[in-house]
Amino acid sequence: MTDILIIGGGVIGLATAIALSQKGANVTIVERGNCGKGATWAAAGMLAPEAEKLEGSLLEFGLRSREMYPKWIANLMRLSGQDCGYWCCGIIAPVLSESDCLALSQHPKYINKSQSHQYQSGLGESILGSLWLPEDGQVNNRKLAQALIAAARSLSIKILEGVTVYEIARDRDRVTHLETSAGRLQSDHYILATGAWTRSLLPLPINPIKGQMLSVFDRDRKLQRVIYAPSCYIVPRQDGSIVIGATVEDRGFAEGNTAAGIAQLLNNAISVYPAIADMPITETWWGFRPHAPSEVPLLGASDYKNLILATGHYRNGILFAPITAKLLTDFIVDGKTDPSFQFLKR
Ligand code: FAD
Ligand code: GLY
Repeated sequence: MTDILIIGGGVIGLATAIALSQKGANVTIVERGNCGKGATWAAAGMLAPEAEKLEGSLLEFGLRSREMYPKWIANLMRLSGQDCGYWCCGIIAPVLSESDCLALSQHPKYINKSQSHQYQSGLGESILGSLWLPEDGQVNNRKLAQALIAAARSLSIKILEGVTVYEIARDRDRVTHLETSAGRLQSDHYILATGAWTRSLLPLPINPIKGQMLSVFDRDRKLQRVIYAPSCYIVPRQDGSIVIGATVEDRGFAEGNTAAGIAQLLNNAISVYPAIADMPITETWWGFRPHAPSEVPLLGASDYKNLILATGHYRNGILFAPITAKLLTDFIVDGKTDPSFQFLKR
């Protein structure tokens, strides 16, 4: 049985661990804090390759992963016994200017103002039309994280929490071991799934891009679609909570919410969905997206024969988790690579 050690217990590390374990590998996750509490916890959980305007092979990657979601979630629910808040609610992407309406009027998914109001009542007057993206949707990323952890435990994946990896020790073209706060750890293969913090272990071009978020509570639960506006998105959960995001800030690991960040999100959200003005604020938080050059994740082979990269998922790591886990498992266990994805490193 192949021994695999995964550094990082976010959605990418956990999803990959489960896929590998279900193919017979013996997997350990090393996580310096608690699993699922990095960007995975901070996210909005949108499954939105279309609303996010992915292009080229990254769009293909996102569409394939979105397609995989129903079966992937069913497997997780079976293993964990937990619900993940997966909801094919569709996304409305509002258009706010006459010129954009004109430019998009021939788009097959364009709907005019009155159709937009039929798909979702209570939209703001600033919305002149929209794209209706019925196949985009959402998962409750916090529930997903909990289900992933429970599923991993059900498969006897070893999870070492509170253990920081300080160094990936190398000899020529191989990793020899990890230096960690719990001593040396050794394995046949290693997977680097450290999200925005990847650079602290290897000189890879991953940078943190901060996103501030907040949530409000909607007693009436009238919002039934995700609204993905140009300057904010609004994600209703099935329990009445509404997640509003997100700023995009290039300022390193600067922690905390700011008045300006939250004010900007609230002003924009209220203009596209005015009922938010009267809803109580329930939480504010922030997270760090792992940005990679051209927004393309670093996946597959590294300069070291027994080290695999699984990082840089930037704005779409929740969406990309199922396909990332599958491609890496095919690569590690069966030595297969999918030619559709040129960016997969071999
Ligand atoms: P993380 O979840 O950050 O996990 C990395 C883990 O590695 C962390 O737990 C960390 O503690 C651990 N780690 C790091 N260094 C070490 C070390 N040296 N030793 C041990 N452990 C270590 N994506 C979507 O698909 N849809 C969305 O709607 C969406 N919204 C987002 C909104 C915001 C505000 C943010 C910040 C992100 C959003 N994303 C979204 C992006 C998504 O959250 C990320 O792409 C995804 O979570 C990345 O997963 P990960 O496992 O690589 O990283
Ligand atoms: N995908 C949404 C965000 O990163 O803010």
